[in-house]
Amino acid sequence: MDYRGRWALVTGASAGIGQEFVRQLSDAGANVVLVARRRERLEQLSALLQSHGKKTVVLPVDLSDPDAPETIVAFLKEQGIVIDILVNNAGFGLTGTYVKTAWEDQESFLRLMVGSYAELTHRLLPSMVDRGYGRIINVASVAGLIPPAAAHTLYGPSKAFLVSFSQALAAECSDSGVNVSALCPGFTYTEFHDVTGTRAEVSKMPQFLMMQVGRTVHGALRAVEKNRTVYVPGAIYKFLTWLSQTLPRSWVEEIVKGPSKSYRNAASR
Ligand SMILES: NC(=O)c1ccc[n+]([C@@H]2O[C@H](COP(=O)([O-])OP(=O)(O)OC[C@H]3O[C@@H](n4cnc5c(N)ncnc54)[C@H](OP(=O)(O)O)[C@@H]3O)[C@@H](O)[C@H]2O)c1
Repeated sequence: MDYRGRWALVTGASAGIGQEFVRQLSDAGANVVLVARRRERLEQLSALLQSHGKKTVVLPVDLSDPDAPETIVAFLKEQGIVIDILVNNAGFGLTGTYVKTAWEDQESFLRLMVGSYAELTHRLLPSMVDRGYGRIINVASVAGLIPPAAAHTLYGPSKAFLVSFSQALAAECSDSGVNVSALCPGFTYTEFHDVTGTRAEVSKMPQFLMMQVGRTVHGALRAVEKNRTVYVPGAIYKFLTWLSQTLPRSWVEEIVKGPSKSYRNAASR
């Protein structure tokens, strides 16, 4: 992968998978715009990369704010930055059942997990198509490929949207020079499980179920270069996804109920 001279924009760049995208894109020569809410985190990473001669720009924004995508695009225009590589990645898990979670929280979750991905893509895609080059990675999840379970109600559906959205875009952009991929990780070591309060539960899981961010991100960048529309990192999750799409739907729904119930209930306590 050689991204020298290209500009990438990564959302959720202050931690986990997003931070790793910033590192690997930067290593591959890209200039990177770092977006998330925590300014100090972004500035720390940016300063580190700049000390190695990399070009970075920091933009602290809350992507659950409906004006955020427009603000980002206005900022890019002002800076004269044209984005070649978009990594829509920012996200979190909203714990609790649907009825017990306030609508304002659900709405803000959808704004971030669905709205910001769709709108940023809509605003940045036209110039990619015009220039005949673009890479878009939507960070979905294995949860978007298997039947959803109780609690964290909108998480699975929001990720299923991203998978389907990426497939539709990839079909629409074929032959345009724009490659679109949905990255579908299983459990991955990041701060995600601290934010959702599931760290203790996740720590009890067998190690073979836990993915490393470095390999996940490297695989995702290779996948988008190869124009693979849906990428699931790790042999175990490839197998589990295949199984869930092969067994009768009613069996899979029953199987998913057990483990996901204990994981999700732990977060909802
Ligand atoms: N870790 C896993 O097991 C796993 C598995 C499958 C899919 N995923 C997906 O991977 C993506 C990245 O998660 P991660 O595992 O890297 O989690 P993480 O370490 O908690 O990082 C989440 C990132 O999203 C940013 N973010 C959250 N809310 C935001 C908001 N309102 N506006 C702007 N940025 C926001 C956070 O930055 P600030 O707090 O600074 O804003 C942070 O940079 C998510 O979409 C998640 O659903 C994770």
